[in-house]
Amino acid sequence: MSSILASSRSTLTRSLLQNASSRPSLLAVARNYSNGEKTLKERFAELFPAKAEEIKQLKKEYGDTVIGEVQLKQAYGGMRGIKGLVWEGSVLDPEEGIRFRNRTIPEIQKELPKGAGGSEPLPEALFWLLLTGEIPTETQVKALSADLASRSELPEHVSDLLDSLPKDLHPMAQFSIAITALESESKFSKAYAQGVNKKDYWNYTFEDSLDLIGKLPVIASKIYRNVFKDGKLVAVDPNADFGKNLAHLLGYQNDEFVELMRLYLTIHADHEGGNVSAHTTHLVGSALSSPYLSFSAGLCGLAGPLHGRANQEVLEWLFKLREEVKGDYSKDTIEKYLWDTLNSGRVVPGYGHAVLRKTDPRYTAQREFALKHFPDYDLFKLVSAIYDIAPGVLTKHGKTKNPWPNVDSHSGVLLQYYGLTEASFYTVLFGVSRALGVLAQLIIDRAVGQPIERPKSFSTEKYISLVKSINAKK
Ligand SMILES: CC(C)(COP(=O)(O)OP(=O)(O)OC[C@H]1O[C@@H](n2cnc3c(N)ncnc32)[C@H](O)[C@@H]1OP(=O)(O)O)[C@@H](O)C(=O)NCCC(=O)NCCS
Repeated sequence: MSSILASSRSTLTRSLLQNASSRPSLLAVARNYSNGEKTLKERFAELFPAKAEEIKQLKKEYGDTVIGEVQLKQAYGGMRGIKGLVWEGSVLDPEEGIRFRNRTIPEIQKELPKGAGGSEPLPEALFWLLLTGEIPTETQVKALSADLASRSELPEHVSDLLDSLPKDLHPMAQFSIAITALESESKFSKAYAQGVNKKDYWNYTFEDSLDLIGKLPVIASKIYRNVFKDGKLVAVDPNADFGKNLAHLLGYQNDEFVELMRLYLTIHADHEGGNVSAHTTHLVGSALSSPYLSFSAGLCGLAGPLHGRANQEVLEWLFKLREEVKGDYSKDTIEKYLWDTLNSGRVVPGYGHAVLRKTDPRYTAQREFALKHFPDYDLFKLVSAIYDIAPGVLTKHGKTKNPWPNVDSHSGVLLQYYGLTEASFYTVLFGVSRALGVLAQLIIDRAVGQPIERPKSFSTEKYISLVKSINAKK
């Protein structure tokens, strides 16, 4: 199989590059920022034909291989554990946690290029890695940062729309409204309407995705500053990286906060394909809805309290706890508060996970950031005290399959320390990051020609007759 792959790779790569060079407009834009090295688009164009061919061969040779079986309880259990999705950027191991293109979080913290003067990875470098499987050079990331910044301007109607929304409309609702309204800018939708060849879908999806990502710091900050501050925004710095621009637009000049944004946006980006925001974006995208419409749908899923909004819930829960215990962070007091939460039929926010069975390494990365920068911060001490106690209580409670903390358990406390105290905004930051993972996959989906998603459903009546007939044969 490997020799077939190698020869078809070179032919396909050649033909694609020839094809790409006949489209000067899109590639020329990218080249303006290339500093002489390959741009992300050029590199992706070189790489994906081999991936498409690899998938084709895999399906041809092993398409009939049985890779799992499905039990009735899984159909009624949120499809947990059913293998039925393809996601290239990351794979989640229940014990070890996430790997981005086979790299752990500590590895990407070490290997990805950093911002000037900083030690945290650049989120746009992770985007490059998710899309290509390669670590970009510093020059390449710089070019990508500049490319994204050059795409940051909002159309007037989106800007006006955000200004017209009521301040008490949840920031996540505002976020998805703005992204939906950006459909007016979709190069993919326009090209599709003009009858573009399906081989070119990826090209317009790539352009829309980069345009969208480039606008995210402005959209998020506009929502933040409209709802919680004076509504004024500083200009995007064309020479700054993605995280730095976001921090400055939000109104935070502190270099440590800039570093936090880089780390935050990197570790929240991708968590394989079955989580609600990733799966929704992929599902809607599979109908060839534009990246704007697909990602907007994903954001609506991220806004749910069992998913991305858990970071807001954690903070609200922590504040109530802090108010109630009045500085007493003893084991007994925290334990009682945890039991009160559980006994009142609520979940402990920030704990548990559908796949993970150990402490989330994204939690650990944030804990290490706190230990490095503010080990004595009161709220951090409280989160740490809960980390010592909650797993034991949840284990005793005996319901959750995973008593350990997830990413949302820690993120809000870091933001609180630097003064970004408005918890209802937290999921928006998660969404800015999540765009990187889900749009990388959407570009890949279009490049390799993933079909429309359409799993099978049955009514309960039909399942009853199905299990009866299966069991009768035993
Ligand atoms: C993340 C989450 C939705 C995963 O759900 P799941 O895959 O169904 O989890 P489990 O299989 O472990 O759930 C089994 C039971 O334990 C309960 N459970 C799971 N996590 C719990 C928690 N943190 N506190 C209390 N109960 C919990 C579930 O509600 C379920 O109860 P039920 O049988 O009465 O319906 C769940 O752990 C949760 O609600 N956590 C809190 C919210 C959160 O932090 N979300 C962010 C995730 S990154």
